[in-house]
Amino acid sequence: MMSRQLAVSGRILIVDDEERQCTALVAMLSGCNFETQVASDGQEALERLAAFNADVIVADLVMPRMDGFELLRRLQERGNHIPAIAVTGFGSMEKALSAVHDLKAFWFLEKPVEPHAFKALLERAIRYKRSLQRAEGLQRDLSLRGILGNLVGTSPGMHQIFSLIRQVAPTSAPVLICGESGTGKELVAREIHACSPRRDGPFVAINAAALPETLVESELFGHEKGAFTGAMERSAGCFEQAEGGTLFLDEIGEMPRATQPKLLRVLEDLRVRRLGGKREIPVDVRILAATSQAAGTHLREELYYRLSVFQIVVPTLREHKEDIPPISEVILQNLNKKHGTRIAGVDAEVLDLFQRYDWPGNVRELRNVLERAAIMAGEGSIGLANLPSPAFSVSSDSHTRPSPGHEGSTLLLPGQPLAKLEEAYIKLTLEHVRGNRKLAAEMLGISLRTLQSRLSIQREEADAATPGA
Ligand SMILES: Nc1ncnc2c1ncn2[C@@H]1O[C@H](COP(=O)(O)OP(=O)(O)OP(=O)(O)O)[C@@H](O)[C@H]1O
Ligand SMILES: [Mg+2]
Repeated sequence: MMSRQLAVSGRILIVDDEERQCTALVAMLSGCNFETQVASDGQEALERLAAFNADVIVADLVMPRMDGFELLRRLQERGNHIPAIAVTGFGSMEKALSAVHDLKAFWFLEKPVEPHAFKALLERAIRYKRSLQRAEGLQRDLSLRGILGNLVGTSPGMHQIFSLIRQVAPTSAPVLICGESGTGKELVAREIHACSPRRDGPFVAINAAALPETLVESELFGHEKGAFTGAMERSAGCFEQAEGGTLFLDEIGEMPRATQPKLLRVLEDLRVRRLGGKREIPVDVRILAATSQAAGTHLREELYYRLSVFQIVVPTLREHKEDIPPISEVILQNLNKKHGTRIAGVDAEVLDLFQRYDWPGNVRELRNVLERAAIMAGEGSIGLANLPSPAFSVSSDSHTRPSPGHEGSTLLLPGQPLAKLEEAYIKLTLEHVRGNRKLAAEMLGISLRTLQSRLSIQREEADAATPGA
């Protein structure tokens, strides 16, 4: 019985310094639907690719000037996803495996190349390339509809964020993501990772504000057994855990100042030394960092410059209120899945109220309001009755001008202890942002750490003042 193979057509770039080998490979493909071009080394291949839109690259690994290994490395660096078949001579199997494993070459072929295997592999590589293109096309369609992964928005501001993400994702450049609390900085970081050639590698996040200062360095760089009291076992740090992937340094502005130069050194050398360790370990990690603009000023200048090679400023929700309806729709779909609710949408009056509200807590606050409302409503549409009561304040500058007589506010009278005023002011701000400490710190222009320490002092004083405490 004859088996009929699907004829696949495509453009093949063959890279080999031996002219005879090139000619032989081209001859094997005669009669197939392939358009072929040849280059005699990596350098020439890169030049050809500027004009020749190849579907597959077939590259000899050992060549003068620029070898196949270096060619694949350069292509990977540029975020180029053309599947490559590495051709290896006798004795370079290790290199071939490393090309497949480290440089994500599609596969390898041993010399002498067997025509049948060659054609079969080419067909598979082209089909793979086509499926990548289809996936990219779907992504583009989605982003035209205002969706990139989990990020939603059709406003010009969000479109700009989408295109910045697409521009920077294929590279390995560090990115500093700035924006108020709850604007979607972490979502942007995850999307950069998901659109990058490192997408199959790990995404490791570390939040400097959530760790005691004494632990930040061992979390980042790891430690050897006995490096400090309590270091019972050796442990790999975030840099090592993120090998081959992305490390997300959240709240980078809260990174202890003494740690910042050490972090900078790792970013420059791409080598880490565990605490108490002697050996330097090379790491292949892409760094993304996030900060609220205010907290960014706590960064040392050198580190700031290193991280902000590329900056993405995520807009506040009040700057793209036109995105509230589509964002709400996607959030509600996710909440339905999470809670088993059957919410179809949001009433027009509610959307109207949403448009007039200022959203100091940004998309996270919108999500929280919708989550509570969805649980209350259970099904149907979210109405005014499902919103927190009293309905949230809709005055446009409510958070900059606390109303006098507001519970928790202190009248400005001369001669009161500063500490008392400070305490009242912190409380007032915290109430306004419904306990979101990070947002409160941002509004007060202090670091989260400072806010937390002020709160614990207040708590201790209150405890001391309580009889029997
Ligand atoms: N454009 C968006 N579309 C859909 N959901 C969004 C969008 N932006 C943010 N969100 C949602 O809002 C919430 C907050 O987002 P995220 O955690 O990324 O914010 P953040 O800027 O990192 O906040 P913080 O500074 O408080 O850490 C998440 O539930 C996220 O899924
Ligand atoms: Mg965050």
